[in-house]
Amino acid sequence: MAKLIDSMKRFFDPLHYPPEGEEFDDGAELLRASPGVRQFGHTFRTVQLPSAQEPDKPLPLDEGASALLALAQEIRGNAYAKYSGFHVGAALLTASGKVYLGVNVENASYPNGCCAERSAVSAAITAGEREFTAIAVCGEPASVPCYPCGMCRQVLAEFGGPDFPVILADGIYPLRSMLPYAFTL
Ligand code: THU
Repeated sequence: MAKLIDSMKRFFDPLHYPPEGEEFDDGAELLRASPGVRQFGHTFRTVQLPSAQEPDKPLPLDEGASALLALAQEIRGNAYAKYSGFHVGAALLTASGKVYLGVNVENASYPNGCCAERSAVSAAITAGEREFTAIAVCGEPASVPCYPCGMCRQVLAEFGGPDFPVILADGIYPLRSMLPYAFTL
């Protein structure tokens, strides 16, 4: 019973329980043996995780990348960001040399909002494009890199290869550095 109580305390307050330096039976055996308790999940204080690797440094912006970024910044003004107040613009360059623009489009039902990157991809695909050369993304303020969210990274990976350039305020990132091990079917 004492073990069970310990486990429950630790589950509900894993950061502060057990108190520093106090002898503690982690109750793992008990948890393993009791599916009813285990279903709540538990944390093991003893687990050591390796530290994450530094991500790749971006390449410096060149003239073309800066021009695409300027378009992303310009279209950002059209963002519909009624709920977050965070305006984002994206400019997607295709192999045919055209640029498709996108902004974030939010919704009262928050999860229905769409990011600028995916708006740009939708515009390009709708126009019949399939080959993308680079994307530039501009958030707020324009001088701070607006890293694409995980969902957008996966969407970009659908059309761009691992070297697909993602142009942000602080440089050019190969997509692979943002989304290693992209999901594929
Ligand atoms: N957002 C984008 O449009 N692109 C990004 O790269 C990050 C986030 C939008 C989604 C939402 O409308 C707002 O920024 C705040 O999360």
